[in-house]
Amino acid sequence: MNGKKSQKVVVLATGGTIAGTAANGSDHTGYTAAQLGVQHLLDAIPTLNDALQGDVLVCEQVVQLDSKDMDHATWQTLAQRCAYWLSQPDVGGIVITHGTDTLEETAWFLQMVLGPTKPVVLTCAMRPATALMPDGPQNLWDAIAVARDVMVHGVMAVCAGRIHSARDVQKVHTYRLDAFSSGDAGPRGWVEQGRVRWADPGSWPLKHANAHQVLERPVAQWPWVAVLHNHANPDARQVHALMAAGVQGIVLAGTGNGTVHHSLLAALTQAQDQGVAVRLTTRCAEGQIVGAVSELPTAPRGLNAFKARVSLMLDLMG
Ligand code: SIN
Repeated sequence: MNGKKSQKVVVLATGGTIAGTAANGSDHTGYTAAQLGVQHLLDAIPTLNDALQGDVLVCEQVVQLDSKDMDHATWQTLAQRCAYWLSQPDVGGIVITHGTDTLEETAWFLQMVLGPTKPVVLTCAMRPATALMPDGPQNLWDAIAVARDVMVHGVMAVCAGRIHSARDVQKVHTYRLDAFSSGDAGPRGWVEQGRVRWADPGSWPLKHANAHQVLERPVAQWPWVAVLHNHANPDARQVHALMAAGVQGIVLAGTGNGTVHHSLLAALTQAQDQGVAVRLTTRCAEGQIVGAVSELPTAPRGLNAFKARVSLMLDLMG
């Protein structure tokens, strides 16, 4: 349990490729959409109960169709079912499984008709449920995570780890798993390891608590923070040399999701034990470190190494 009151998340199923089946696992195009019921889709996520943290799933098969065949009668039924569930005080949010082909139209229709203050999250799949690596279970799991997020209101679409608003979402690719785009607006956020990361994280301090020090303290007395990178065969002696020279902080741009060569990690841990402030970030230009991957503390707010150096220098002025 996460301490918050348990709520219902309602899954309304409408068909699509996410519920599609093919005669063999390697067939991603010659399948029939809308074959499997909603319970079957949920059963494909064995860890779902852990992710729900005490919340309860309610599911309903609204229709079972290929979304190329979407019609106004189905839209009306779907809007009515959404309105019913949204009016229940114990319902936190709704997830709708839908075909990819007309998902953007249904999303906009529901946004305009319901104007929901709770999350209504459409999700889908580009591969049928019988694929060797189906994308539906992950998309559904991600959509449930978004529907449980307190920051969400309105109609969203979730596909391939990206969260799109009903206004901007559009199917832009015929085949690839990440088939949707929000165009120039970009995604509203991402779902990583079951956690939502918003593109606009809302309020965070726009001025450092030690800012006044910068205006007064002679620059020669500003803390010395160095930036190092992880790479193949790094030389841990650079850490020892920095320590010997009196460095106060080190920001390490790790590889990938913040990985560090074992020799460099040992040297940085030693530096940390001896009072040097160490922060870990990634040398990847996009994304940020997900999860607790290292005993080294992660730089805040996914800052790159150079901005993390500025922040750490200001931290050390305190
Ligand atoms: C559909 O839109 O129902 C079929 C295609 C898909 O879901 O990708």
